[in-house]
Amino acid sequence: MGTEHIARSFRAAACDIDFEWPTVNLLEACARYGIALEDVAYLAANENPFGPSPRATAAAIESLSRAAVYPSPSLRYDELRNEYADVRGALARYCGVDADMIMPGPGSETVLRYVTQVFLDPGDEVVAAPESYSGHPWASQIMGAAVTYVPLVDYRFDIDGFLAAVTERTKMVWLCSPNNPTGTIITDAELHRLLDNVPPTTVVVCDQAYQELVDDPAWGDGTQYLLGGHRNVVVLRTMSKSFALAGLRMGYAIADPAVCALIDRIREPYYVSGPACAATLAALEDREWSADVVAKLIAARRFVSAALTDLGCQVVPSQCNFVLVDTGVDADDLYERLLRRGIVVRSGSIWGYTTHLRISMGTDEENRRLIAALTAELAG
Ligand SMILES: Cc1ncc(COP(=O)(O)O)c(C=O)c1O
Repeated sequence: MGTEHIARSFRAAACDIDFEWPTVNLLEACARYGIALEDVAYLAANENPFGPSPRATAAAIESLSRAAVYPSPSLRYDELRNEYADVRGALARYCGVDADMIMPGPGSETVLRYVTQVFLDPGDEVVAAPESYSGHPWASQIMGAAVTYVPLVDYRFDIDGFLAAVTERTKMVWLCSPNNPTGTIITDAELHRLLDNVPPTTVVVCDQAYQELVDDPAWGDGTQYLLGGHRNVVVLRTMSKSFALAGLRMGYAIADPAVCALIDRIREPYYVSGPACAATLAALEDREWSADVVAKLIAARRFVSAALTDLGCQVVPSQCNFVLVDTGVDADDLYERLLRRGIVVRSGSIWGYTTHLRISMGTDEENRRLIAALTAELAG
């Protein structure tokens, strides 16, 4: 018997997001094509190939000696510890805001779900772009909200389209800048126009997961608008990308203290792990490492973008650690052909980009291997 009879009674039944765990596919693909896992170049999840600061790794390992106690606050081992408060303080200093404007959580994916839990009720409307991070509409639909989709124009958020879609029932607007999967930004002028024209009761979530990788001075930072008095702005950021702590799970919201207090009320009591807190504190201190990694990722994005352009592909200018590229051929087919060579990327077809690939930056060796494989596959 199927589960339809049960699913009908859950809000989850309203979710129209299709998601497949990529690792399951990968294991199947390796078996299918006889590829050893260690020979796979996995350029599909926008991870950081350079890894975290060794100081962050050491701090996480050291914290394991306290694995028997809840992370925070705790009183054992002759010491009162409150890693959670320490992390809030360190992130606040890093972002240039007060600690009561920071709300950490186990990954920004989880934090964005808290934001929807705080604000959304069944029947509410939210506005989002279909060619953006699927976690936004997904979390909204789980709360029973209806999503109005406003497609990107030329790979960029359509600010006029968003403004036209906002009604008095719109509770939330989802922005992503730079955007996953296009790598494009919302400029300061565009953000300004949007924020000046949405009602103050509409929450504007600016997902800035890739913010450290932006080098375009035209980019608009949601935090500045929040600090400038737009109390309806919620910025989402993460330690997963530039700081390479994706596996430890640490993300955060920057928001009005009242919004942070609401999230604090609904979050689980012991929800960020001790190792994640310890690694975050150490990573934020090791600025030399993070600056070096960001420089390497930007250099990789320039190298890959230029090489793909030389191959005759249309590269969407990216401000992230991935690029979206129009190869001119069927994306699902090219994805499969690269998979056969042990290179895993994302096909753009899930976002309606049927001739595009989204390629995460790898190590120099992986990037060169990718370009060689695409050169062979696209020849003729
Ligand atoms: C735009 C965007 N937001 C949020 C996330 C989630 O990041 P995390 O939950 O690791 O902080 C990702 C991950 O790829 C992303 O691309």
